[in-house]
Amino acid sequence: MLKDVFIGLSQNQFLTSAAKKYGLKLGAQTVVAGTNIEQTIDSIRELNAQGISCTVDNLGEFVFEKEEALKAKDSILEVIESIHANGVDAHISLKPTQIGLDIDYDFCYENLREIVAAASKYDMHINIDMEDYGHVQPSYDLIETLLKEYGNIGTVIQAYFFRAEDDIQKHKDLRLRIVKGAYKEPAEYAYQTREEIDANFIQLIEYHLLHGKFTSIATHDHNIINHVIEFVKENNIPREKFEFQMLYGFRKDMQLNLARQGYNFCTYVPFGDDWYGYFMRRLAERPQNLNLVVKQVFNK
Ligand code: FDA
Repeated sequence: MLKDVFIGLSQNQFLTSAAKKYGLKLGAQTVVAGTNIEQTIDSIRELNAQGISCTVDNLGEFVFEKEEALKAKDSILEVIESIHANGVDAHISLKPTQIGLDIDYDFCYENLREIVAAASKYDMHINIDMEDYGHVQPSYDLIETLLKEYGNIGTVIQAYFFRAEDDIQKHKDLRLRIVKGAYKEPAEYAYQTREEIDANFIQLIEYHLLHGKFTSIATHDHNIINHVIEFVKENNIPREKFEFQMLYGFRKDMQLNLARQGYNFCTYVPFGDDWYGYFMRRLAERPQNLNLVVKQVFNK
């Protein structure tokens, strides 16, 4: 299947390094806000002007060298300072493997703690993105330890996992982003069909809207969004308790429309030179996104 091909390509180390060297190519510039923070702040300002807040991902994942992980940590610290200095409405999303989870748990913890501490000075939220299954439990371990000291963290629930229901109940007091799940996971621990994943996604969203602290519903799926809009009306759930999230560059009209209707809206804004894995996962989710690539190639 095409999905498997793109997921395979997303994990290709050689292509990842080549992509870093050669900048934003293959149409990635339509879904990645820029290669540096200055360009990204401009994009954030434009979104803020339309009533949309942002979560900023300084792209990077599956890092295996300490030096690279420290560089990623320093870049995220710079992003925090830059968001604060520019007074834009934005917070941080990061991936634990970007700051060393595959190298050493304690090393990753120290990096993450430094980031969370820096952001807490400005009361800035840090979202710990969830990656593939093998990283889920260690990521919760990091979160649970950090929660003893800091309150400015939240994470992601991936609806394709059987464990998602337990995880959401355990962490209902956190600000949670609920998603379908982006990686290829085996039937041993993940739902495989669209119907099963969608049904669990809806169930998790409804549970957290009713019992949780703050819910970020992260999807481009209009059926799910329409369902949520009806559900919050029927259950008198105030708008301050949830937001919709979509990725930068996707369904821009729908993003604006929801913001204009007065729903809290947050766009996930990825930037940086490590765009390749992120971009390939977007192609895996929706091969029609290949149109973006084709357009870019022919519009040079
Ligand atoms: P899906 O791709 O299932 O599409 C459902 C339907 O919606 C399609 O059939 C089509 O009708 C419509 N549709 C979708 N995209 C469209 C488009 N561009 N244009 C027109 N119609 C479209 N995953 C993860 O594992 N860990 C994480 O931390 C995150 N974080 C994250 C943050 C944010 C803000 C988002 C939006 C997503 C993530 N994800 C993620 C990714 C997520 O798990 C999932 O893979 C993608 O969002 C794709 O699933 P959707 O729910 O968007 O719809």
